Amino acid sequence: MIYADPLGSVGFSKNLFGILIIIVENQIHTNQNLKTKDMDRLKTTYMGLALKNPLIMGACNLTLDLDTAKKIEKAGASAIVFKSLFEEQINLESLQMEEDLQEYNERHAEMVNLFPNLEHAGPQEHLEKLSELKKSVQIPVIGSLNCVNRPTWVEYAKEMEKTGIDALELNFYANPKDKNQSAETIEKEQIGILKEIKSKVKIPVSVKLSFFYTNPLQIISQMDKAGVDGFVLFNRLFQPDIDVDKQDLYNPFNLSQMGDYRLPVRYAGLLHQQLKGDICSNTGIFTGDDMARVILAGAQVAQVVSTVYKNKISHITTMLKDLDGWMEKNKYESLDDFRGKLSKANTKDPYAYRRAQYVDLLMKPVEVMKKYPQV
Ligand SMILES: Cc1cc2nc3c(=O)[nH]c(=O)nc-3n(C[C@H](O)[C@H](O)[C@H](O)COP(=O)(O)O)c2cc1C
Repeated sequence: MIYADPLGSVGFSKNLFGILIIIVENQIHTNQNLKTKDMDRLKTTYMGLALKNPLIMGACNLTLDLDTAKKIEKAGASAIVFKSLFEEQINLESLQMEEDLQEYNERHAEMVNLFPNLEHAGPQEHLEKLSELKKSVQIPVIGSLNCVNRPTWVEYAKEMEKTGIDALELNFYANPKDKNQSAETIEKEQIGILKEIKSKVKIPVSVKLSFFYTNPLQIISQMDKAGVDGFVLFNRLFQPDIDVDKQDLYNPFNLSQMGDYRLPVRYAGLLHQQLKGDICSNTGIFTGDDMARVILAGAQVAQVVSTVYKNKISHITTMLKDLDGWMEKNKYESLDDFRGKLSKANTKDPYAYRRAQYVDLLMKPVEVMKKYPQV
């Protein structure tokens, strides 16, 4: 009867179409639920922020571009660190501004009076882009700052907070320039800057450190006491290279290599359960297994950059699926089930976080040397 009635037939097709849509939608929802359910075990927190998983896209040029940042979010990253604002950039722009102002000499004094912070007006574009990114993605956005002078650190920490970002990362990287300045002086200044910023902003604050402290554990512990919410361990520093043919210096595009995760593993392992702030491992984390490694050592989350440059944005999804698969295989329901399992506090191996490789060489020299035969 339905087929005999053209309208009914349309109605039927419509119904059939509707049913098909419902089936497809259900399928999509089932897949999404499945996906969400699978990814549920990856949920975590970092500096009090709720994250869907422990993979954060670290600061780099990729996060500067809005479309690329959206792709990074789509691939599954749980948060994004926006490219740092550098004091040099602030100064360069203000220099430019001053040059521009010379052209309008008669207005100069008036403008300076109207805008007492005019010399710092340059990085406005950076702040605008940061605010635009925050509005364009659902995941938390972390701003990153790298300054030299304390007033600039504090001023721009406050400016960045105004953009609506979820947290601020202080990139404490500076090359030593003065041979008469002691390590203690530099470290005291960093702690001072940190305390001042912590007292002036409400959002969580992390520090991104280089490994080049005489005793990283000590400065980390002092910063922890100063109230840091997260530690990004460690930054990979750009180093100049030399072209021997041209006998000239150049700046290569400096990416990490597979296997470079061992330093972050060591420090996550040493620091697990020793800090109030969260540990975010960084440098050389390339695969889902590497993510599992740093979390087994004690990291809360990890930041990745080089692996995304080398393996494309879709690799973020692969890493998350691999971590999830590894957890399923090992019957872990949450990251807490295995976080810090192999930290110094929890491992039974007394040598693991000490002079492990030397002990290995002493105890098993034959096995070690067999791996690298010389003749
Ligand atoms: C092209 C590029 C740009 C970067 N820019 C920044 C930056 O602006 N601020 C920052 O703190 N780190 C920056 N980094 C360092 C990364 O955030 C990260 O700490 C480092 O690359 C180590 O992680 P990875 O081994 O996953 O690459 C940059 C790295 C690269 C490759």
